[in-house]
Amino acid sequence: MNGTVFAPWLEEAHSHWNQRPMRLQHRLHEHPALQIDAVAALIERYPRNDYALVHTSRHGDGRARWREGELGSTPGREVIEAIAGGSLWLNLRQAHAHGPAYAQLLEQAYAEIAAQVPGFTAGALKMGILVSSPRAQVHYHCDLPGQLLWQIHGRKRVWVYPAAAPCLQAEWLEDIAYTGFEFSLVYDPAFDSMAVVFDLEPGQMLTWPLNAPHRVENGDCMNVSVTTEHWTPENRRAQKVHLANAVLRHRLGLRPRGRALAGPGYWAKAALQAAWRRSPWAGSTQKALRPIEFRLDPLAPGGMVDNIARTA
Ligand SMILES: [Fe+2]
Repeated sequence: MNGTVFAPWLEEAHSHWNQRPMRLQHRLHEHPALQIDAVAALIERYPRNDYALVHTSRHGDGRARWREGELGSTPGREVIEAIAGGSLWLNLRQAHAHGPAYAQLLEQAYAEIAAQVPGFTAGALKMGILVSSPRAQVHYHCDLPGQLLWQIHGRKRVWVYPAAAPCLQAEWLEDIAYTGFEFSLVYDPAFDSMAVVFDLEPGQMLTWPLNAPHRVENGDCMNVSVTTEHWTPENRRAQKVHLANAVLRHRLGLRPRGRALAGPGYWAKAALQAAWRRSPWAGSTQKALRPIEFRLDPLAPGGMVDNIARTA
């Protein structure tokens, strides 16, 4: 892309960055690397460890059922057709690591933000590409790193909630840091009255205050979205405090209230969480890998082979 990812629209919004949810215009959806054929080609060279393929359905009693699968040798175009006709989502989690065009777009997008938003510095940038079925949903959750959502194809509706009680409790953030499971939030439909609701179309993106909970519903069409992730220095300090507070609460039975991001209290917690990460107990608190329960297969009835149970 010879032009810019954002400008001139970002200029109007920079003073509200991270202060309130905002919908901005972008041009990622025009880039050749994000057209359907390019995404199909990317799918065909994507390593197994870097994607998640999920099929959603309902048990007989109405409870949500979520199964993880793999692509097998299904051609990329047929993967996208299966998603367009089913209840699936495919998250290509590390797109920036699998094509120079994606890495370049990611760098360029954040360079433009840093140029427009005073004091914004971010690292550990990541780009994911999410291909999802008509009417697919992402349930109420929040993310510890900063995240941006860029719509490329299709339409979706996004509810963004305040990053404050009752929509978000400090202990929920601590538990996400402790378990790595970002869906450990408690959703109450009454929160919807506090949400800002956005309809997203190709060429529009969303930014929201750090950790703001959100949920998503696709329109009646296949969706391709890009998610980008970043860590600011303040964000990293907060992550360390979340983890230290969780360790104090879960392992020592304490009720830590301090959340300072500077001073002796902060440095004590930074040291505590570093020691915890090195300890043999740290891994046992993280979410378990899901078993792989199906494989896409266009020749099989229903387009998939079930029960190939093994762990990712
Ligand atoms: Fe999210």
